[in-house]
Amino acid sequence: MLQENMIAALNEQVTMESTASHKYLAMACWAETQSLEGCASFMFRQSDEERMHMMKIINYLHDSGAEVKISELGTPETNFGNVIELFEEALKNEQAVSASIDRLVELAIKNRDYKTNQFLQWYVEEQHEEETSFMKLIDRMKLIGLDGQGLYMIDEMLAKFEPEEENA
Ligand SMILES: [Fe+2]
Ligand SMILES: [Fe+2]
Repeated sequence: MLQENMIAALNEQVTMESTASHKYLAMACWAETQSLEGCASFMFRQSDEERMHMMKIINYLHDSGAEVKISELGTPETNFGNVIELFEEALKNEQAVSASIDRLVELAIKNRDYKTNQFLQWYVEEQHEEETSFMKLIDRMKLIGLDGQGLYMIDEMLAKFEPEEENA
């Protein structure tokens, strides 16, 4: 059995992953309006991944006999200055998610809930990988620059991007 404060905190994380999925969906749609097909497909994939993160927690709660409460989501940002600003926004979101996962781990340890702590370790690793990916992509985008053919090259790079974890 999970403790009540852990059930509440995991439910909040469900909302957070769902919100991330929602945000990346809006980012993908913005990219479509800019004819950035590579960026759009990257963000659609990212949105699917966040939904998978959400489902993993929902399944964990159900498997533990706990109740899942699905919350309302806000309207995500739909305007971005350019593709670099969009990725900076996404990185900020990932950093907030990482901080939230860290708080969950702290709660699990405080509760002596070693099962949930072990479950959360997958997220600790995943957040590290995602932050690294986003930071690397932003660095490369800045290196390429948005002028001339830069934007086209950035979009090609995003179309081909494979997260490192999938190669492991
Ligand atoms: Fe996530
Ligand atoms: Fe993420």
